Amino acid sequence: MTTNHTWLRPTRPGQQPRLEYGADYNPEQWPRETWDEDIRAMRTAGVTVVSLAIFSWARLEPVEGTYDFGWLDEIMDLLHAGGISVDLATATASPPPWLTTKHPEILPVDREGRTIWPGGRQQWRPTSPIFREHALRLVRVMAERYGNHPALTAWHVSNELGCHNVYDFSDDAAAAFRVWLQQRYSDLGALNAAWGTSFWSQHYSDWAQILPPRLAATHPNPTQQLDFKRFSSEALRVYLRAERDLLHELTPGVPVTTNFMIMGETKAMDYAAWAADVDFVSNDHYRLPGAQDLDELSFSANLTSGVAGGKPWFLMEHSTSAVNWQPINVAKKPGELARDALTHVAHGADAVCYFQWRQSRAGAEKYHSGMMPHAGADSVLFRDVTALGTTLRELAPISGTGRTPSRAAIVFDWDSWWASEQDSHPSDRLRYKQEALDWYTAFLDLGVRADVLPSHADLSGYDLVVAPILHVVPQPLKQRLEAYVDGGGHLVTTYFSGIVDENDHVYLGGYPGALRDLLGIRIEEFEPLLDGDTAPLDNGTTGTLWTDRIDVTGDGVQVLARYKDGGAAITRRTVGTGSAAYVSTRLAADGLAPVLGDLLERAGVTSELPAELRGRVELAVRGEYWFLVNRTAEPVELTGLDGEFLHGSADRLEPRSVTVLRKA
Ligand code: GLA
Ligand code: GLA
Repeated sequence: MTTNHTWLRPTRPGQQPRLEYGADYNPEQWPRETWDEDIRAMRTAGVTVVSLAIFSWARLEPVEGTYDFGWLDEIMDLLHAGGISVDLATATASPPPWLTTKHPEILPVDREGRTIWPGGRQQWRPTSPIFREHALRLVRVMAERYGNHPALTAWHVSNELGCHNVYDFSDDAAAAFRVWLQQRYSDLGALNAAWGTSFWSQHYSDWAQILPPRLAATHPNPTQQLDFKRFSSEALRVYLRAERDLLHELTPGVPVTTNFMIMGETKAMDYAAWAADVDFVSNDHYRLPGAQDLDELSFSANLTSGVAGGKPWFLMEHSTSAVNWQPINVAKKPGELARDALTHVAHGADAVCYFQWRQSRAGAEKYHSGMMPHAGADSVLFRDVTALGTTLRELAPISGTGRTPSRAAIVFDWDSWWASEQDSHPSDRLRYKQEALDWYTAFLDLGVRADVLPSHADLSGYDLVVAPILHVVPQPLKQRLEAYVDGGGHLVTTYFSGIVDENDHVYLGGYPGALRDLLGIRIEEFEPLLDGDTAPLDNGTTGTLWTDRIDVTGDGVQVLARYKDGGAAITRRTVGTGSAAYVSTRLAADGLAPVLGDLLERAGVTSELPAELRGRVELAVRGEYWFLVNRTAEPVELTGLDGEFLHGSADRLEPRSVTVLRKA
């Protein structure tokens, strides 16, 4: 899998490398007088780039085939004159009312057969030929009109593809699903075998009989469900490539991106695969309040870097303060605006952008913060925004520097995420992302950097790799993991790993199936725990959610911790200079920290941070630059660090702050 990387097209002669700063900008929501004020304030804030026209289709093409580009021409020119470059959207994210009225057959359908009506946004079927025809016509017109505009720095395909419409169960989706399945399986016999259709009388005798997993009497076929997830992610990729190819054809040299949503529980798009389709990776991230919300931000930024192959990426959206779409929308505390942005930079973001420049007066997002709040420029928020602009200018030398690989990694696998959380399993309480995040928090608590990597990444440079809930293990992955351990790598995996192949068929002979020999253990039955039940271990930690009855079967297997009844709970098999360890229960971050600490010590991996800082400070490294993020709400005295301090204090890390130093 290749990851492309061209960065923004320069929009001025002699443009120096810099960290970009800006936001989505929606001038069409404001009277003309506001635009000049916007550009003045953007310059005050240090804005270098804005994303324009994301939801502008209905304004740009108010009637089919009739365009109104006057306002966009004018604002493009004004921005250019103001020294601000434009990441121009293709404007296809939300089809206009004339299109959905004329062609209601582009509207998505949910699994219960209900139409998703206009009134919100993104009301289009990813596989609709009619939608595509109209959207690509608009892309062509946009590319022809603005391809040579001096403000144009990149193309922004659609917006958050799949945010609301990834799962469409319409007849268009059914037809496209069949085509995708024919490509995957070639013949119906292979599909019947892969889907296990001997079960429940599901044997297909004609492709036309196959449907998306619509509302069914009971659990739909699991492989049908898994393939539909794969198909749905792929269908949007196909759409992304259609826009991209047209842009590449009409405006060669202008890089194309689209904003991913590597955040929280957004799981339907396999961004590890999508990264190959964009010229540079962009991501949107919003925090969800909770004990691990800052760790989750770091995890997502880290995974974005992993998806981008370690190269710099573009933070297309985050929020200056509150959002509007959570049940309760909490404002950011002092310091958090800069800390959150710089944590993304620490993990490779070379652009820091927000949704959106000016907080809306009307519409569903009027209570979503922006760079320019309702209160106006005379506000704490706008002063913080301006201060961050200054900081990003000071940190310009960092731009272009990729992340420095760590010695440890966490493997993140979309197939395993999708498959392990499907229905009709031993427990419906299992949460793939949460397990991965818990391991990440344990790394942070120990002060050890860990790269979060997609499962196709080369693991050979890492001393220790954790692959939590690696549920789907096709033969090539099995062989790669074995080779990794044979080569001296230390692999750690958990409950419900190695269980199924790519068709979601169980490996026979005992669990953990594909990883049984490598781990040197055998499990006959899973023992998930009921809510509230716990499984104390003899190392002082306590499991929840899951346990296994483990038989140690291989040579060189050591039991590192046992359940109360004496059964093995954590095992580690040494293989030459490498090892393969198994954690059979959910320990959460607190319980994982000592277990991981022990495994790291055995693997010879140590923290790069002075002992006093471990756990309280997150370290991220880009080349010679060290980013130290205060994970706490207390000040942290900085000791034992040398280098030139570029940002923040050299001796004290204030609460919710970041220090950047160039290592001596
Ligand atoms: C997404 C969208 C934006 C906006 C923000 C609000 O990221 O791309 O248009 O709706 O959410 O948080
Ligand atoms: C019912 C059905 C069986 C099987 C079991 C599972 O009894 O008749 O086919 O699905 O439930 O518990």
